[in-house]
Amino acid sequence: MVATKSQQSADAARRVKARRQSGPVTDVVREAIRLATDPQLVVLDGFHCVKHAIRFDAELVLLVTTDRAATLDLADSLAPDVVERLRAELVSVNPSLAGRLRGVDPGSELVGFARRPVPGSDATRRSAPAVLLDNPRNLGNLGAVVRVAAGFGASAVLSTGSVDPWHPAVVRAGAGLHFATTVRRITPEDPALAGQGQLFAFDPSGEDLREIELPDDALLAFGSERHGLSAAVRRRADRLVSIPMAELVSSYNLATSVAVGLYHWSAGRARPAGR
Ligand SMILES: C[S@@+](CC[C@H](N)C(=O)[O-])C[C@H]1O[C@@H](n2cnc3c(N)ncnc32)[C@H](O)[C@@H]1O
Repeated sequence: MVATKSQQSADAARRVKARRQSGPVTDVVREAIRLATDPQLVVLDGFHCVKHAIRFDAELVLLVTTDRAATLDLADSLAPDVVERLRAELVSVNPSLAGRLRGVDPGSELVGFARRPVPGSDATRRSAPAVLLDNPRNLGNLGAVVRVAAGFGASAVLSTGSVDPWHPAVVRAGAGLHFATTVRRITPEDPALAGQGQLFAFDPSGEDLREIELPDDALLAFGSERHGLSAAVRRRADRLVSIPMAELVSSYNLATSVAVGLYHWSAGRARPAGR
């Protein structure tokens, strides 16, 4: 029988509790260092990452803190819904641990480890646009895109190029909202790019976005910070669209452009009841 996500999380919590009761603190440090290099896991650096991972049902493997009281106080004031989970699962470690984990801010008081979700099929018709980042280079930008995509309920953030969209610095910049949408790296030949809705590629030379209606199943493509859209994505695009800019301004930041694109899509839809 296949375990459900919540059963898996409960099992993980039991394992953490057992570990906490049985082993000395140094064992936990050693385990955290090992988990940080496991490619099947995601490092959650900081409170907001852990909070969203819990809210969006990530499968947590271990949560370590260098200041249990401060972490629980913060949760009490910012996110009471996750306090009980933290109280049950937090394992205290020496403050030097964060500095020994790849990609983690050395000052972090809370670090978690969760299982990387296995991407589902892209075959179903989308009810909200997906975002395609064409070779993004900046980890902070990529995280900011995931955050805004989650906020607007975009169906996915797909990225080409060598940057891992699940890198700890990207997950931190995304406040852990990777678990609220689908985030994965693809190649330019990936079938996810073909035969699914129109591809709207964002570029300052395109048609004015204000004149365009973005359908729910649109794929919205954005270029890299330095070089813009690749020739391959330009060729594949159904429409090139531009966000208006004042004279002498050459471009917007990547994440800002994604936010404008998704806002434009959302503004063209009926507002869901109660929002
Ligand atoms: C920082 S810009 C890239 C600037 C780059 N030097 C170039 O040649 O395009 C990153 C991406 O944001 C999007 N973008 C920025 N400003 C835009 C605008 N005014 N209209 C449409 N897309 C824009 C584009 O997808 C662009 O490739």
